[in-house]
Amino acid sequence: MTPSSPSSVTAAERATSVCVPVGTTDWLAAPDAAMKRDAVAGLERGDVVLFPHLPFALSPAEAKLLDPAVVKEGTKTVKYDPDTGRVWGYAEGIDAAAMKSMMERYADHTRRLLGALTPYGSALKIGNTSFRPVEAQGRQQSKRHDDTRLHVDAFPSRPSHGQRIMRVFTNVHPGTKPRVWRVGEPFETVAQRFLPKIAAPFPGSAQLMKLVGITKSRRSPADHYMLQLHDRMKLDDGYQSIVPHQTVEFTPGQTWMVFTDQVSHAAMSGQHALEQTFTLEIDGMADPERAPVRVLERMKGRKLH
Ligand code: SIN
Ligand code: FE
Repeated sequence: MTPSSPSSVTAAERATSVCVPVGTTDWLAAPDAAMKRDAVAGLERGDVVLFPHLPFALSPAEAKLLDPAVVKEGTKTVKYDPDTGRVWGYAEGIDAAAMKSMMERYADHTRRLLGALTPYGSALKIGNTSFRPVEAQGRQQSKRHDDTRLHVDAFPSRPSHGQRIMRVFTNVHPGTKPRVWRVGEPFETVAQRFLPKIAAPFPGSAQLMKLVGITKSRRSPADHYMLQLHDRMKLDDGYQSIVPHQTVEFTPGQTWMVFTDQVSHAAMSGQHALEQTFTLEIDGMADPERAPVRVLERMKGRKLH
């Protein structure tokens, strides 16, 4: 990446808070022009767009689900696919109808909010919804699966071919417990640090992984580099201990959205969150040059998908 590129995020841009507040307090109200402008500019720049007062109200039956016992043993989230209506990852005997209604409504509300706030239109596609009632701090897991380590998101089994990953979160804790995140360096800085160490994909590996079912479709070079970035960040103890970061606390009733494939993030602690994943075609962005794949392509000097 050349320092003069208009799309690079400078340290000065990140020097102040990484959060851009947007004043929407109603999921279904029409946002004004300033809200739309701030949200899209903030998202694409690699900031966290924060709605300081945008709670997601639960019915009494849904509120009873705020319990780590509702997840199936060995998992940490309950998932919902808005395209099929399927819910999975929950323990036997829970109120499955309430679970589904909560997830369905969260998917619907986040979709409508993004539809009103952004110009992305049909380039933005809804993915899975997740409910996270398990405390994020102190879970036993491998470094690669440990989201308390700073990372950028990448899909291991669903090749994205350079599509963006955007996630919306709401802290639905019934008390006062914040969800605490760390936000690390701008994507360009992360890439400059790790990309030179990553070897090109092994010739034929993409076809092989599809053939044996590791991936659902051919993994592009862009996916290869994004997955490697995710893994190398998380596995590097030295990096994790020295990398500059900001700590952000999201209190109950707050909602935030972020391009998690671009923004280095870690969830340090917190309990009871809802999350909705979206994918976005790069060409749907206001400034496609800010997409991680474009940053990597400029650094590599060639197309990666
Ligand atoms: C993550 O995407 O790394 C986890 C975020 C969270 O659960 O708050
Ligand atoms: Fe993540």
